[in-house]
Amino acid sequence: MSRKILVTSALPYANGSIHLGHLVEYIQTDIWVRFQKMQGHECHYVCADDTHGTPIMLRAEKEGITPEALIENVHKEHNADFADFLVEFDNYHSTHSVENRELAISIYKALKANGKITSKTIEQYFDPVKNMFLPDRFIKGECPKCHAKDQYGDSCEVCGATYNPTELINPYSAVSGAAPVRKETEHYFFKLSECEGFLKEWTRSGTLQNEAANKMGEWFGNGLNDWDISRDAPYFGFEIPDAPGKYFYVWLDAPIGYMASFKNLCAKSGLDFDEYWKKDSTTELYHFIGKDILYFHALFWPATLEYSGYRKPTQIFAHGFLTVNGEKMSKSRGTFITARSYLDHVQNPEYLRYYYAAKLNGSMEDIDLNLEDFVARVNSDLVGKYINIASRCAGFINNRFDGRLSKELPIQWAQQLKHEFMSPETWQKIGLFYVDRDYSKAIREIMRLADIANQYIAEEEPWKLAKLPGSEERLHQVCSLAINIFWLLTIYIKPVLPKLAEQAQEFLQTGDNQMVWDQNSVLTNHQIRQYEPLVTRLDPKAIEAMVEANKESLQPVQPAPQTKQPEPAMEENTYISIDDFTKVDLRVARIVEANHVEGAEKLLQLTLDIGEEKPRNVFAGIKSAYDPATLVGRLTVMVANLAPRKMKFGMSEGMVLAASDERGGPFILSPDSGAQPGMRVK
Ligand code: MSP
Ligand code: ZN
Repeated sequence: MSRKILVTSALPYANGSIHLGHLVEYIQTDIWVRFQKMQGHECHYVCADDTHGTPIMLRAEKEGITPEALIENVHKEHNADFADFLVEFDNYHSTHSVENRELAISIYKALKANGKITSKTIEQYFDPVKNMFLPDRFIKGECPKCHAKDQYGDSCEVCGATYNPTELINPYSAVSGAAPVRKETEHYFFKLSECEGFLKEWTRSGTLQNEAANKMGEWFGNGLNDWDISRDAPYFGFEIPDAPGKYFYVWLDAPIGYMASFKNLCAKSGLDFDEYWKKDSTTELYHFIGKDILYFHALFWPATLEYSGYRKPTQIFAHGFLTVNGEKMSKSRGTFITARSYLDHVQNPEYLRYYYAAKLNGSMEDIDLNLEDFVARVNSDLVGKYINIASRCAGFINNRFDGRLSKELPIQWAQQLKHEFMSPETWQKIGLFYVDRDYSKAIREIMRLADIANQYIAEEEPWKLAKLPGSEERLHQVCSLAINIFWLLTIYIKPVLPKLAEQAQEFLQTGDNQMVWDQNSVLTNHQIRQYEPLVTRLDPKAIEAMVEANKESLQPVQPAPQTKQPEPAMEENTYISIDDFTKVDLRVARIVEANHVEGAEKLLQLTLDIGEEKPRNVFAGIKSAYDPATLVGRLTVMVANLAPRKMKFGMSEGMVLAASDERGGPFILSPDSGAQPGMRVK
């Protein structure tokens, strides 16, 4: 029976580029959607840019453009990235859209009519320099639990504590560096605390993975707090009706963006919006998300839908996070790789699709992109096993038999083919792996079949048959069988490798096959085209070049002219005594402020906290490699007892340590987490 299915991936923020981490999710969803479509189901895949909120407003301001212009540029960029990775949305919309504004407002009104909205006066941090209330993420300070410095306003990266920004010790604004003041403001709340009964029941109804349901259990245990859904101007978002100067918090209208994108699709395609979203809808709704946004999708979102009169998601599929070479993606290691940078260096998006599929399962575990393994797997499995079947046998069919497959297949093997490769059990097994998002098992099964096929070819040795008089018929049948197997495997792997499969189907002249079991689907006496290599091996050099290009480094900096004082030449092997070394007072410093210096080509001005009463003012020749905004809050190491030097732009009271030579740099040194400003470095 054909089903009606609506699928979403989380809406990426419009303040940054798509990177390999994001792609885990979009590739995961795209494979699933393609599989459903290949089963003949009516399946719609929608997404959009998530465009609202303070970070986007501030970034636009920094770039000197309107937020509208910023999100339009990013929309184009995201669209191109997804298309080039063969992520095929049926619609890619924006949360800053007419549909979303209307839906957000009507949902808010429905919640209000249902008594689920309340208002409270709260006290919040306010940046008196920037004249705005500060989101938690824009306040930093000392952790109230472990006293680590420079922690964000919502949680401590050192001890893992979560808290209110009001609990931070010595808070400062990450926007202006100013000490924030406390200010009263009226906020609107969604009464989540009243939704516990509903949410508990919803959690039990099989909508969540076990791990996610357990997480929910923890959250219920802690008690549900009402959800703050409003923000004060200035804010880039939708103004709340009858509340001038108050805006919907980005996370209120973001998931509504799923509906808005679908509504926009309905207008273009004639689909019925209500059929998919009405309370008693019989269609299916699936959200693919990362584990970091489970709270929003498993608590706020179903509650919002329930109390505004809409249907709830059928299931929420959360995945884990991407690590590269076993570690968090990192700019300094060159493993923070954007979608575009991957395409520039590696070109073929299907290598990555293949690798992610080979690693993904239906759980919330993190998945690792090991770059060495990536090259090995692509070359040994994708090229060496799957493509190899076609490339070893197609030439004989093309050259010896006019591109026509034999009328009969080798008898014994014809049975094995039916039994092992195309039985209903095999179709079903692989199909279920796709349904369960257990793609690694699907790939393993497909590669197991490819192994059997390669083994068969190795035993039959068509290249020898080709030289053996009287073996024409055998050669024809063996190669025709191999082509049949290649065709089957192509259908099995098509959700993962849609472009390659399409090219293969063109070569095989089979048309666009659905992925459903058909016991008669054997290619005999069938014409194929000239074989052209379908995919080439992945060159490890391309990966090396990609990582190199993503290492956060720019040209080596020349010493700034102001500091160019003749220094005594020091031979490379000249030793200094330990006493000389201990004369240098090295200290851990926190960069509390970093600014461009008007008229200086190479210098940034840094304000450094080393635990003394007065912070140090230092000019550092690092402008070529660092955006000052990204430095604020970082720890580094400085020479604290360098004689103050008068420079063109002011007094420099020390020196920051950074590495550089002709290979790149400067790279600022930073201590491991846990170090505190003022600590001596020995
Ligand atoms: N805008 C919100 C989602 C709103 S949905 C109504 C958001 N955006 S995001 O750009 O930060 O992330 C988009 C999706 O990509 C999220 O599901 C997130 O979990 C996922 N990923 C972002 N970085 C990731 C990794 N490093 N690894 C795997 N997935 C990651 O959250
Ligand atoms: Zn802490």
